[in-house]
This record gives sequence, structure tokens and C-alpha cells, in this order.
Amino acid sequence: MKGVILAGGLGSRLSPLTKITNKHLLPVFDKPMIYYPLRTLVEAGIKDILIVTGGNHAGEFLRLLGNGKDFGLKEIHYTYQTGEGGIADALRLAEDFAEGGKITVILGDNIFESSIKPYVEKFIMQERGAKILLKKVPHSQRFGVATFSKNRVTNIEEKPKKPKSHYAVSGLYMYDSRVFDFIRELKKSRRGEYEITDINNQYLKEGTLTYDILKGFWTDAGTFKSLLRANILIAKHEGITTKDL
Ligand code: G1P
Repeated sequence: MKGVILAGGLGSRLSPLTKITNKHLLPVFDKPMIYYPLRTLVEAGIKDILIVTGGNHAGEFLRLLGNGKDFGLKEIHYTYQTGEGGIADALRLAEDFAEGGKITVILGDNIFESSIKPYVEKFIMQERGAKILLKKVPHSQRFGVATFSKNRVTNIEEKPKKPKSHYAVSGLYMYDSRVFDFIRELKKSRRGEYEITDINNQYLKEGTLTYDILKGFWTDAGTFKSLLRANILIAKHEGITTKDL
């Protein structure tokens, strides 16, 4: 399966840090943020990878990652998103790269502690549709939130004011090739973006969306609080304690 890392956008929630670099190049403990999703894909056996970037600092990705030698890759593919149209809009650029096959998509600011390999293997066996990964979080209103009836997901709401569960939709999505048809039919949301949640709800309506609950910690790093949280979680994971500081 091929992998796509979405690392575009202007990162305005992290301004002024993002005035002089791309959000996904900011440090999370001892590495640039993008190292973590890239490592997550490679560790799961996904070695054919496209990075979708954008904004004013896109060239820095090449300087940092080149052809991915440090990750054991032969080559990395890059493409450029003009403007800020949302996650689903960025994914549109991966259609030719996907060549009609299934893809795993990861947001460039998402950090997963545990391997995603078991979920990828399950999705390879899944006949068609999509898979999302959920994580129980205390403040789910910042995310896409799954609503359940018994064990079935019945709806996903993007950043609801009153979330119906504590299960956030993480930024790791697996899709069959029809995702690009769904993107073409998409309308912009009230905040003016093409929402990945609308795509997931399309698969849900069709009855082909599966989910798993993530093991280990998961965080995004797109706001000051979550960036700090990501730094703390990774430092702890690396065995750093306050006594070391
Ligand atoms: C995006 C998605 C949201 C998802 C989150 C995971 O939110 O829209 O559904 O839960 O990523 O990180 P954003 O980072 O754009 O606020």
C-alpha cells in the first residue's frame, strides 16, 4: 500500500512560529515533527510515500528529507498544494500517485506511539471502503468525534461544540481508490474547507467504514498546547524525567 503525508497549510494556529517555517518542520523533542508520521508509515511497511506540502517553506522539506535515505527509503515523492483548502483538498493531489490502489493517509502533525502495522494489515484484507482509528481523549471537541450506537459508529462530527463521545478521530485514514471520486463531489464546509470528516461520513453512509481503537498515546501538534503535549509525551517516551532537567 502507498502512503500520503499531508504537510501543507499555513499553520496559522502556531503563528508567529510558522511565519518563518512550515509547521511540520518545528521540533518535537529532538526531531522535526514530520519525522514521526514518516517513521510511522515506514515502520508499518509503507515505503512508497508522497508528501503533500505547501506555503512559503516547502523547499525545506527537500533539504531535510531528500530521498528519505535516513528512513531506509529509495525515494520520496513531493507535491505542492496552492492555498489552504483543507485536508480533503490536499489529498486530491495524491490521485495520480495512488494509481488506483488503496492508500494510507497520515496528517503531518499527528504522532502515534504504537505501531499502526496491525491496522494497515487489516485494511489490506478489507475488500473495499475505508478505515479510521479512534482514540479516547478528555476534550474531544477539538477533533472529529465519533458517535456510537452500541458498537457501531453512526456519525462523525467535525469539532462539535457538545461532543457525543470522547472518541476522537485520529489523523490516520485508510481509503480505497474511490476516495478521489468522493472528494470531487465534496462541498466546502462552513469554515470554507474541504473536510476529511465529510469523506469519512460518505463511507459511513455506504456502510464500508471500519474502525479500530488506537493503542498507546496519540496526539496532534497543531496548537501551542498540543505541541507542548507532543514534546512532553515524546520526551517521556525517550526516558527523560524532570530530574534530568
Ligand atoms: C483534523 C481533522 C479532525 C481530526 C484531526 C486529527 O483537524 O479535521 O477531524 O480529528 O485533524 O488531528 P485539524 O487538525 O484540522 O484541526
